[in-house]
Amino acid sequence: MTASTTKTFPSGHVFIAVSIDGYIARRNGDIDWLSRYSNSGEDHGYHAFMASVDGIVMGRNTFEKALTFQEWPYEKPVVVVSRSLGPHDVPPGLMDKVRISPQRPDELMADLLREGWRHAYIDGGQLIQSFIKENLLSDLVLTRVPILLGDGIPLFGQLLKEVDLKHIATTSFPSGLVQSRYEFLSH
Ligand SMILES: NC(=O)c1ccc[n+]([C@@H]2O[C@H](COP(=O)([O-])OP(=O)(O)OC[C@H]3O[C@@H](n4cnc5c(N)ncnc54)[C@H](OP(=O)(O)O)[C@@H]3O)[C@@H](O)[C@H]2O)c1
Repeated sequence: MTASTTKTFPSGHVFIAVSIDGYIARRNGDIDWLSRYSNSGEDHGYHAFMASVDGIVMGRNTFEKALTFQEWPYEKPVVVVSRSLGPHDVPPGLMDKVRISPQRPDELMADLLREGWRHAYIDGGQLIQSFIKENLLSDLVLTRVPILLGDGIPLFGQLLKEVDLKHIATTSFPSGLVQSRYEFLSH
């Protein structure tokens, strides 16, 4: 992991799966096309990645999706970035694991550094796009799923200026998943 932003902020890391045509979920938020790969028996590196971060910063939509899972899927602390949710929107059973923050990404990341975070997992399409624009990401692990959804929630969006990345490695799995790691170059 690079340390390009470690002086002021924890480094921001993305670990995300995307359809070949660039979507992270169906338009209605469904990720069934992705979940079927969790039983492949392959190690896609998720647990090692999770072990390397201090916590997760996620967008409100990703939080609301995670709340629909049978079990809360995260052991590490979760910060939900939202201006529409408040502390009362955190279910009682998750009060010690989840907090809501209305802060801007740079303000939040500065606070997290003060709290001792060194590596933050950034999740959710819109939130990742904000972090890219603010140059708060150090690397991206992108797992391409061999499906064309045709429509959905995009991972990437418009930018004010281009962003260069450095390809680090690509691994292909028998299931058809292709995983690439990129580092963000400062922009
Ligand atoms: N394929 C995968 O690996 C993967 C991974 C993660 C998520 N997903 C899926 O992706 C979907 C959610 O992604 P999404 O792009 O719709 O939303 P998102 O990034 O999870 O959440 C966006 C929301 O976060 C809040 N927010 C607060 N500050 C923000 C900021 N600076 N920039 C952006 N958002 C900010 C806003 O809600 P407020 O109005 O409350 O402020 C905004 O509407 C879900 O269906 C989830 O299951 C898939």
